[in-house]
Amino acid sequence: MKLTIIGGASAYTPDIIEGLLREHALFAGGELCLHDIDDIHLRVIERLARGLVRTAGADLRVTATRDRAEAISGARFILTQPRVGGLKHRALDERIPLKHGLIGQETLGLGGFAFAWRTIPLMLEIVEEVRRLAPEAWIINYANPAGMVTEAVLRRFPDARFIGLCDMPTGLQWGIGRLLRVDFHRIALDYAGINHGGWVSRVLLDDRDVTVRLRRWAALLGPVARLLPLREETGTVRLFREHGMVPDPYLRYYYYKDQMLRQLLSAGRTRAEVLMERLPRLYEHYAAVALEERPVLKEHRGHQSHADLASQVIAAMAAGRPTRFVIQQRNGGAVRHLPPDEAAQFPAVVDGAGFRPIPQPALPREEAELIAHIKASETLNVRAAMEGDRSLAVQAAELNPLGAPRPLAVRVIDELLAAHRPYLPQFA
Ligand code: G6P
Ligand code: MN
Repeated sequence: MKLTIIGGASAYTPDIIEGLLREHALFAGGELCLHDIDDIHLRVIERLARGLVRTAGADLRVTATRDRAEAISGARFILTQPRVGGLKHRALDERIPLKHGLIGQETLGLGGFAFAWRTIPLMLEIVEEVRRLAPEAWIINYANPAGMVTEAVLRRFPDARFIGLCDMPTGLQWGIGRLLRVDFHRIALDYAGINHGGWVSRVLLDDRDVTVRLRRWAALLGPVARLLPLREETGTVRLFREHGMVPDPYLRYYYYKDQMLRQLLSAGRTRAEVLMERLPRLYEHYAAVALEERPVLKEHRGHQSHADLASQVIAAMAAGRPTRFVIQQRNGGAVRHLPPDEAAQFPAVVDGAGFRPIPQPALPREEAELIAHIKASETLNVRAAMEGDRSLAVQAAELNPLGAPRPLAVRVIDELLAAHRPYLPQFA
């Protein structure tokens, strides 16, 4: 069995490998292939991966390559997590809208739109290659903006063996598990929406509905808010109190737009700029532990739920062990207020054969309509990215709740197009 990670030099990779190694018997005698175009970091992660395999006592061969076709050929699972343009271009997505008084964010608003323009052409190429070189493979995607990426992939390849992931729902499970003092794998969510925009309408603990109990907690919350994963954001708990459903924390950008904008403006540095300073030290840590005979990671790129989700999805498929996750795929009616033919985010049972969506109850009208509105603007932007159509991008920007009317929409879109030009051949 061959497992491939595209974007294998990412700082997220070591934790994901550790996650996979927890069930290494599933992959015994197999190959873990890391692909990246960043040679220097690829060598660090390759060496570390070999060490982690030794630490786990796993029977797994680690390879690394810059040749994508070679990485894809014969793979059974392909985890995709490229970041086109790296953090440098993420910083532009965050900075440019902000300069014009708009939310500048990695995956949302006009910054997120620009990230979609860069990522979608590459992901379509990768999916096309997988269909040719490894037709049996499942693509497990973390590349952001994951919702728009999934939408584009399914538009071009409706039957793609593709599952979009995001760790936000898993992070909520983790936070709720901590609140209830139980292992988070015992928590399951009913979720309806899109990536970085949806609601948990019901929380289950071992199949028992604990939503009412959590609402009581939320009512008392203030002090307990600190236990949630995103501790600086009492906004998540506040949205829960006000709507009676647990929000994807990214909904704060829509519901508390002005406060969020003020926070971003007063931060001085964007998130990408913070990461550009932090990540070199993380890679130094990776390089240092890679030299040990039995390396153990002491520093991590993301929350543990990020690595847990990807590795558990792959393990559930490899073991043929039906497990419930919140995923992104064709809606097919699972989320009732969104178009059935477009991508959405919802719970599904994943196993060796793929995934079976779990149909969700309708959201209340007010919450449903905001999500449908965001989704409509994202789908327009996906078409802009696929067709290289600037005027569709402007329309999408006008429609998005974090966008702007003309002429500002035109100005910001044009500035983003110019800033990312080398990565946007489709707009040439
Ligand atoms: C969460 C989201 C991801 C996002 C990340 C940003 O994990 O689910 O979609 O990319 O946060 O975190 P960062 O540390 O890069 O700002
Ligand atoms: Mn995400």
